[in-house]
Amino acid sequence: MTEADLYTRYRGVYVPAELHPPHCLKFYEDFTFRPDDILVVTYPKSGTTWTQEIVPQVVSGGDPTLVETVPNWDRVPWLEENRASILGLEERPSPRTFTTHFRHDLMPASYFQVKPKVIYVMRNPKDVFTSLYHYSQTASFLVNPGATGDFLQKFLDGEVLFGSWFDHLKSWLDAEPTERVLHVAYEGMIKDLKGVVAEMAGFLEKPLSSEAIEMIAERCLFKNMKKNPMSNYSLVPAEIMDQSKNAFLRKGIAGDWKNLLTAEQAEHFDAVYKEKMKDVQYKFAWD
Ligand code: A3P
Repeated sequence: MTEADLYTRYRGVYVPAELHPPHCLKFYEDFTFRPDDILVVTYPKSGTTWTQEIVPQVVSGGDPTLVETVPNWDRVPWLEENRASILGLEERPSPRTFTTHFRHDLMPASYFQVKPKVIYVMRNPKDVFTSLYHYSQTASFLVNPGATGDFLQKFLDGEVLFGSWFDHLKSWLDAEPTERVLHVAYEGMIKDLKGVVAEMAGFLEKPLSSEAIEMIAERCLFKNMKKNPMSNYSLVPAEIMDQSKNAFLRKGIAGDWKNLLTAEQAEHFDAVYKEKMKDVQYKFAWD
């Protein structure tokens, strides 16, 4: 099936039609934030599920009950996805935790008025591409990637779900200083998970003991998350997500692009990256 069969466009970017019917996108657009809401923002395949595991445990002071009993998609729900409108989010106690894959300029009006706290997680785009390539073979609501080179061109052109990685990243790096955005790198989480958990706790004003930080980081290790049915997508039927092809929690490493891209493809990626990022000053963990 093609993009025309499986995707619709929301303000210019592709979204999987099945997960984002028009009334859900309307729910997203009309959503009212509270100042103490916490929003996890990612481009797909950048560490969303990982952060959905960490943040609720930081908020609960290290209590794992929520992550052990509630699937990630209801625990830190995507505001633009079909379940958001039926979860009674208006009644949830503060601080509420949400996710979105949308670019900064596609945030609902209330975001700009209320300015809830945002944790923006970013990842080496070559690994994002690699993860998305494998995931697209697994999920029935995504267009099959086909040949690596063809999918690479679509990715670099932003003709994939949630649009261009470059535009996404730049939009969230350019958030106003009056907004409260913590930028975190997947590679930083790989390198020093405890450090990132502590950083998130500081940002969310949730002081944690070093024991609590240690326990959260331990539970959020790849090997442990793989065993959590509330986070490993094993609750999703195989017709929707066929994990016999690729596990959702697939490799969980930095640099796996080396196993997918040819030298020419990597060179082409780097050239496009250099051009598109030439005005960006930020020092990235993957550079
Ligand atoms: P890979 O496909 O490279 O393994 P998202 O949740 O945004 O869809 O991102 C999924 C990617 O994050 C997958 O990457 C997945 O394995 C990785 N991931 C999830 N939890 C992780 C963890 N605890 N440690 C390392 N990587 C993790």
